[in-house]
Amino acid sequence: MITYEDVRNNKEISTLIDGANHVLSAMKYTEHGLRHVGYVSRTAYMILDKLGFDEKTKELAKIAGYVHDIGNMINRKDHGVTSAILIYPILKEMGMPLEDVCQICSAVGNHEEEIGSVVNEIAAAIIIADKSDAHRTRVKRINERGSDDIHDIVNYSIRKNIVLVDGEKKIISVKFYMDNSSSVMDYLKIFLPRMVMSEKAARFLGCEFRLYINNVIINTVKRMSKKQLEQVPRPDEDIDL
Ligand SMILES: [Fe+2]
Ligand SMILES: [Fe+2]
Repeated sequence: MITYEDVRNNKEISTLIDGANHVLSAMKYTEHGLRHVGYVSRTAYMILDKLGFDEKTKELAKIAGYVHDIGNMINRKDHGVTSAILIYPILKEMGMPLEDVCQICSAVGNHEEEIGSVVNEIAAAIIIADKSDAHRTRVKRINERGSDDIHDIVNYSIRKNIVLVDGEKKIISVKFYMDNSSSVMDYLKIFLPRMVMSEKAARFLGCEFRLYINNVIINTVKRMSKKQLEQVPRPDEDIDL
């Protein structure tokens, strides 16, 4: 079986990761190098591990996390699809069974919110991992004069990001801790579609998704029984309008 270690030791793949990071640096994007893909790999593995998935699925998710952004080496637009097309022949040549290559390519090709869908467990895990990686250390451009880019400003204000998985209660929580150099409003302006996709990914894994910013839950839909719903007062009854 081709392992994550085999993929990590493959010079061609690490060159593609460096090339992708170089293109995004030139476009003034946040860091997308070995740190980012390493984080996505580890986090995707952890999510599936806590939910009791088998070793093989976890290993494939780790590999998918490592290669998910290589398409940026060609162009940011549709880079998920390009990543999948680039990695397909490499994994095949390394001797990975074709069914496993397909699983990885489907996940990688669907990890971006613009055109992606949650097509399998590996996709679900890398989507949540990828979208949770927002942090001040990813910002390259902030200097004494600051930055006027909203992505830089929001990322820079995030002091801590955590993904927590409660395998028993089936809850996946993503927590961000922001300082006052940005705002929750700014965060939502740019990251809401990513969190909506993470919600879908958690649901695919049979879990509820909770987004916290500074310990305040942002997204939970309260599930109420019919009886509870009937007891909710109607505005015309109880509220003085
Ligand atoms: Fe990506
Ligand atoms: Fe990514």
